[in-house]
Amino acid sequence: MFILSVALVLAIPFVAAQSTSNDTAVQIEAIEAHFTQADLVPALLATFNPSAIMTISFDSVTNVSPGQALTQDQVAPTPTLTITPANSSVDLTGNYTLAMVDADVVGSDESNITRHWLENSVTISNGVVSNSSATAITSYAGPAPASGSGPHRYVVILLQQPSSFSPPSDFSQPNIGVSMFDFNGYVKDSQLGAVVAANYFTVEVGTSTVSLSITTSAVQSSTLASVSGATGTSTSGSTAATGTGSAKNAASVVKAAPATLFLGIVALAVALM
Ligand SMILES: *[C@@H]1O[C@H](CO)[C@@H](O)[C@H](O)[C@H]1NC(C)=O
Ligand SMILES: *[C@@H]1O[C@H](CO)[C@@H](O)[C@H](O)[C@H]1NC(C)=O
Ligand SMILES: *[C@@H]1O[C@H](CO)[C@@H](O)[C@H](O)[C@H]1NC(C)=O
Ligand SMILES: *[C@@H]1O[C@H](CO)[C@@H](O)[C@H](O)[C@H]1NC(C)=O
Ligand SMILES: *[C@@H]1O[C@H](CO)[C@@H](O)[C@H](O)[C@H]1NC(C)=O
Repeated sequence: MFILSVALVLAIPFVAAQSTSNDTAVQIEAIEAHFTQADLVPALLATFNPSAIMTISFDSVTNVSPGQALTQDQVAPTPTLTITPANSSVDLTGNYTLAMVDADVVGSDESNITRHWLENSVTISNGVVSNSSATAITSYAGPAPASGSGPHRYVVILLQQPSSFSPPSDFSQPNIGVSMFDFNGYVKDSQLGAVVAANYFTVEVGTSTVSLSITTSAVQSSTLASVSGATGTSTSGSTAATGTGSAKNAASVVKAAPATLFLGIVALAVALM
């Protein structure tokens, strides 16, 4: 974890310095770093190499930063999802499957995933995810984490849906409510393709009753914010997520924090020289 974090932080200024002509490449690096920092990779997604950036916007909060802490009211309406390709050779035609899952708090039981949104055959129309010919297996259900259970990570994922797509019988009809979900099992059984883009936000209700305080995206965000600030983008500004009990990666995240921040600043200084 420590070595990986350092490697990411060192890599990002390098990418930033190389790609001032196209911010999307920096944003791809940034979202990959956020997902690793928040332990969504590998706890939820074994790997994450998006070919596009997903921007989540709710009625009252547009352009949500990765991991941004939002209230239950803010995330109640169905969001609009904007998809920006990494470069002009990324093809965004065809069908996609859209999912939103509650990946619980950092360090929680990795199998404790709840489905909040599942639509098959969405398309990308003028850069926006469209449901005009989609099937809503589970219509968007706004987050409502248990009070005191800490900041839950809500992950919105867009996957390639090839013509061989064949959903399992228990997910082939619309109007299935929110329930526990074997996300990776579903992806495999349905023969869905690669994750094209993903993003996440956090929602916490009440005050966490668990004592251990950790930082997830905060450290990486501030590092990335300074890097992207230098190239004129705004990929970050995420807030700290605190809470959780037996966070298995919490200790290494905390340990890595000062070092990554320091190295990030040093690397930025070098990049600017
Ligand atoms: C375009 O982006 C994709 C996905 O990130 C990448 O695999 C590919 O190498 C890129 N192509 C070019 C020409 O930069
Ligand atoms: C930057 O990426 C966008 C997104 O597809 C692409 O349209 C544009 O041509 C790229 N610009 C440069 C300078 O590579
Ligand atoms: C799983 O998530 C539910 C709902 O968020 C929660 O009530 C339960 O305690 C969690 N179980 C485990 C084992 O983490
Ligand atoms: C499409 O989205 C709108 C709101 O975002 C929703 O009201 C409608 O039920 C959705 N339709 C399908 C088929 O998912
Ligand atoms: C895309 O989805 C629509 C609606 O389900 C379907 O009619 C069409 O055949 C699909 N196209 C491909 C290429 O899978």
